[in-house]
Amino acid sequence: MDSGKPVLVSGVKPTGDLHIGNYFGAMRQQVELVKSGKYRPFIFVADYHALNSMQDAQEMRRRTRELAMAYLAIGLDPQEVTLFKQSDVPAHTELCWIFDTLTTMPYLMRAHAYKDAEAKNKEISVGIFNYPMLMAADILLYDAEVVPVGADQKQHIEYARDTAEKFNRTFATDVFKPPEPYILPEAAVVPGTDGQKMSKSYGNVIPLFGTRDELAKAVMSIVTDSSGERPENVYAIHKLVKGKKDLDGLYENNRGNYKALKEALIEDLDHFLAPMRARYEALEKDPGAVDDALARGREEARAVSGKKMEAVRRAIGVA
Ligand code: ADP
Ligand code: TRP
Repeated sequence: MDSGKPVLVSGVKPTGDLHIGNYFGAMRQQVELVKSGKYRPFIFVADYHALNSMQDAQEMRRRTRELAMAYLAIGLDPQEVTLFKQSDVPAHTELCWIFDTLTTMPYLMRAHAYKDAEAKNKEISVGIFNYPMLMAADILLYDAEVVPVGADQKQHIEYARDTAEKFNRTFATDVFKPPEPYILPEAAVVPGTDGQKMSKSYGNVIPLFGTRDELAKAVMSIVTDSSGERPENVYAIHKLVKGKKDLDGLYENNRGNYKALKEALIEDLDHFLAPMRARYEALEKDPGAVDDALARGREEARAVSGKKMEAVRRAIGVA
């Protein structure tokens, strides 16, 4: 698979039932980019990042598996991508430590995620505080040039860039390549059923692999504002699965009829999601397929990151 193509790296934490915000905001682009054939792709389940908030072994196992199945169900082909679990590749945490020694506390204290947690008076673990350094390691181990993420992750990519530059400067080397974020503007923020950003932590999600009934229930709960001509929260989600021309016609013909518009959205969403749901259900019945994909990914990721770690160890003088 060593192709000379630019490397793409991305990860998702296995911390909740996937929703369409995760899909349209991040996973779909990842799959499209992989399918474009322009990159050498690495996609991983960020289980060690998830450990910050999910400290239950059974849940960790189940959700990690579900996320790997989800990636396969939405179209990743393990022959085309290195799909792996972060915890299967020890270089990630090893490099994270090395970065911790270079990074200052004030610099990490400027991270949005840290500042938000502090503003809410949350108890912040060292793992949460260091989150950007583990993520920098995820990215820099593979010489990623393209890192497709949602807009909320942009600062983390900047941390990875800064860390690459700092390491290179400190050790007078060019071991690391600074990465770029890849953010698809029109899907940057998918709104939830209440109009805020869709997020599992707000309880406003539309599930990605839900049954039709679950979809219908979530869509019916979308908050509509009676002041406008068009229910904006419904429209914003609808436009993810239907072209603008058809959509504007539909909304014009059903002005003020929010129920009909929601029913149309249920229909269109279900049509869009059904094939992925079917593949997911098939994978649930074939656990060996997921195990094989992850075992293959583990070996490939270990080989590439292991080589990078040799250069890192030489650069810092422990080898
Ligand atoms: P959640 O907000 O539900 O906790 P995560 O933080 O686990 O979701 O997000 C995983 C990925 O999905 C990230 O790359 C994030 O940017 C993307 N994502 C999540 N919710 C949305 C959304 N509403 N719109 C766009 N992208 C999103
Ligand atoms: N922090 C990312 C998120 O919450 C997940 C992630 C971890 C990631 N490591 C990464 C994304 C490396 C891209 C590259 O969505």
